[in-house]
Amino acid sequence: MTAILNASGCLDALVAPDIARQLDAFVTKTVTPLPREGNPPPRIAEVDGGMLNSIGLQNPGIEAFVASTLPRLAGLSVPVWVSVGGFSAADYAGSCERLDDSDAVAVIELNLSCPNVEEAPETAAELVAAARAATTKPLYAKLSPATWDIAESARAVVDAGADGLSLINTIRGLALDPATGRPTLARGAGGYSGPALRPIALACIWACANAVDVPIVGMGGITSGADARDVVAAGASSIALGTVLFADPWAPARLRDELAAGDTTPTQSVREMRANSVAP
Ligand SMILES: Cc1cc2nc3c(=O)[nH]c(=O)nc-3n(C[C@H](O)[C@H](O)[C@H](O)COP(=O)(O)O)c2cc1C
Repeated sequence: MTAILNASGCLDALVAPDIARQLDAFVTKTVTPLPREGNPPPRIAEVDGGMLNSIGLQNPGIEAFVASTLPRLAGLSVPVWVSVGGFSAADYAGSCERLDDSDAVAVIELNLSCPNVEEAPETAAELVAAARAATTKPLYAKLSPATWDIAESARAVVDAGADGLSLINTIRGLALDPATGRPTLARGAGGYSGPALRPIALACIWACANAVDVPIVGMGGITSGADARDVVAAGASSIALGTVLFADPWAPARLRDELAAGDTTPTQSVREMRANSVAP
């Protein structure tokens, strides 16, 4: 059976524990060494084919996360994957070291691809190598689709010690206010997610699955069992749900049923799903 996870940043398990309990593993919002308030609002916009966000890694910082959030997540009895982000190799290494001896952490996902914050100066492979040296936990590298040759990045991060790949993060997009011609989001561009990402995700997963021999968590616009099957057919071994959770929080259970039933109903847009969704 295909494992179903949430995509980082798209579910707060402490606010919605029953939603999280549908999952085979819960992936946290990306945690950085220091607390972050994120970018100024507005930082969410609904657009054709999905949504834009410019949250900017709002999180309590690794110390408060380990002291307060992680013990409460452990109480959910769902395996916890911690998404780690930063602005240098030392940031990634420091957070991985901090998580290394915690029994509450099943996997560390390295967010190497947030479009809403400054990038670390090191390459993705150097960031993975620094994290690898700091922990014995399984490491998944989350890559950006915004690269000419994602298979090359996949080879580099696997050579550097990644045990798996999470594919894909959002891709940068811009929405304009029709009245003013100014960007809708305060930061300008944001990360584009949702159904429009599906063919991009499939191409990335396909390319990486043909380049490296590690498990792949596939994500990007999955809204139905049929979408999930495509992602697995392209080379993913498990799937993660992101934007769909905002419209349909019970999507994990629904997809599990659809996968089991071999349901091939056509996929719906997020807007259609929201119109049809029943409140939990
Ligand atoms: C509101 C929002 C917040 C997100 N925050 C994070 C994050 O903190 N870390 C991360 O790695 N990805 C983050 N993502 C990206 C998702 O994890 C996922 O890679 C992306 O949205 C594609 O999947 P989807 O089309 O199913 O949403 C975020 C996405 C959204 C929509």
